[in-house]
Amino acid sequence: MVAFDPAAVRGQFPFFARHPACVYLDNAATTHRLGSAIDRMVEFYYDENSNVHRGVYDLSERATLAYEFARETVANYLHARRAEEIIFTGGTTDALNTVAAGLDGEICVGDEILITAMEHHSNILPWKALVDRRGAKLKIVELTPTGELDMEDFFKKLSTRTKIVAVAHVSNVLGTINPIKYITKLAGTVGALTVIDGAQWITSGSIDVQDLDCDFYAFSAHKTFGPMGVGVLYGRMEILEKLAPFRLGGGMVQKVTAEDVIHRAPPDRFEGGTPNVAGIVALPCAIEFLKSVDWTKYRDHERKIRSTIEKGAEEIPGLRLLGTASDKVGIYALAHPTVHAHDLASMLACQNICVRAGNHCAQLLLPHFQISQSLRASFTLYNTVDEAATLIEALSGCIRRMS
Ligand SMILES: Cc1ncc(COP(=O)(O)O)c(C=O)c1O
Repeated sequence: MVAFDPAAVRGQFPFFARHPACVYLDNAATTHRLGSAIDRMVEFYYDENSNVHRGVYDLSERATLAYEFARETVANYLHARRAEEIIFTGGTTDALNTVAAGLDGEICVGDEILITAMEHHSNILPWKALVDRRGAKLKIVELTPTGELDMEDFFKKLSTRTKIVAVAHVSNVLGTINPIKYITKLAGTVGALTVIDGAQWITSGSIDVQDLDCDFYAFSAHKTFGPMGVGVLYGRMEILEKLAPFRLGGGMVQKVTAEDVIHRAPPDRFEGGTPNVAGIVALPCAIEFLKSVDWTKYRDHERKIRSTIEKGAEEIPGLRLLGTASDKVGIYALAHPTVHAHDLASMLACQNICVRAGNHCAQLLLPHFQISQSLRASFTLYNTVDEAATLIEALSGCIRRMS
């Protein structure tokens, strides 16, 4: 079997041709962009620039066709039942806020929303605001020492009062892959809706929303080798039809009088205002690329990177790897008892190694690991085992100098 080839992937990203020495390990924050997606955006602005769903002239019709083609491409990739189940948003945050605001009327005093201690703030704050508005309660599933969901705690906290279960497919700090299919099944037993934050999964494997049997699934194009400012919200049509629109304005209404407003059907109802058309028409380039990935081979490559990081980290005195689930993607959070993560990240930056330091917008995790910050290195399809070794060597040197 021919091994996964990150160099072939790298060749499709113009950034690396211009910055060959950059060791970019902050892919959980944002990935680099495919040349094909950049070219498609430029082509749109040069030759098709116009608004969508508005004009009857050729340019606008072409832009609308390309926009709706993007919707169909995403729907096929996620295996949605219909293209209309795909809503374009500004990103994962925007998508999750759309769902939480839209479900406002469904939540009453005494209801519960179940999230987990490994959620990104984008999958905490909209629910916190919703329970506060409606007099409901937020329940948080705890983690095991390896950074996996404590399913016993999940069982304990899931009840007939649970109306929504909102969970990350993959943790943006620990890299843990959560058992989403199992979670949606459990949520189904109490009739709770399921909202899956897919921001960190999409670049790690294929996806089938029907198989997962979730009600909502969200991701961002900028973490998926596509443009910034574009996101996707998949919603099951029966639920979208009942969901209240969040962004009110042009393009999402059928009729407006001083007395009454009739909203359009989904997805238009949720796409008020002018969207990022250039970004959305470029999204199919990212999807085509993801379709070309052999995920089994990539998993093998990920395992080699993981082994390099784990063995290397073990040999650095005091360095602790948070999140050691057997099923995880290439996201590694590291903490040292005396050297601050920000100092480490700055020292690595001087060696052209880009990593993240801080709480990674997941502050519910901090008490679990009894830390206030960590260093996060996140790998993706264009990263090599050599880059993992470079990181370990550089980290070892930095910690030696600082300890
Ligand atoms: C798991 C997870 N959810 C949500 C988000 C928010 O994504 P965005 O900033 O693209 O809206 C992130 C970003 O890091 C994330 O990692």
